Amino acid sequence: MNVESYVRDIQDFPKKGISFKDITPLLNDAEARAFCLTTLKNSLSNVKIDKVVGVESRGFFFGILLAQEFNAGFVPVRKPKKLPFDTLSASYELEYGYDTLEIHTDAIQKGDKVLIHDDVLATGGTAKAVCELVEQLGGEIVQVNFLMELTFLNGKDKLEGKNIFSVLKY
Ligand code: PRP
Ligand code: MG
Repeated sequence: MNVESYVRDIQDFPKKGISFKDITPLLNDAEARAFCLTTLKNSLSNVKIDKVVGVESRGFFFGILLAQEFNAGFVPVRKPKKLPFDTLSASYELEYGYDTLEIHTDAIQKGDKVLIHDDVLATGGTAKAVCELVEQLGGEIVQVNFLMELTFLNGKDKLEGKNIFSVLKY
């Protein structure tokens, strides 16, 4: 399947000079969705996954589908002040300033085999912060996977030592 054709480039969104990868056509097509889910799932054969961590907000879509496929728990990592229980926070650098992500402290148990999912790997700041959260709770990261990777931003460099997989590479 030519899954790339379901990702739409939107010029100058959300800011001038940025070409945004819009995955809504992909979400809106059952076959394209199934293709991505199968590709992500098949990248991990014969491994037990205890928890799938999905990153707010666009990491939630396939995160929950993957959790279902692996018969695993689903753990949302969210933007600040969204999670109601006790949280652990990690900050990461943006182009200008910092952002923070949070996880519930009881969402992952020591030794849990964890799959982290997000839609896009860009600079890697988001994924790195999520890895820190998971590892601080004692989770063992089996893989960090994405629908797509913007290779020219070298996000992989921030995830050294991690097993990374993306359906699409740009
Ligand atoms: C986007 C994207 C990834 C992250 C990748 O999320 O969905 O989560 O940026 O960028 P990075 O590798 O440079 O950290 P965004 O923060 O825009 O929020 P959203 O998912 O809620 O749209
Ligand atoms: Mg995101």
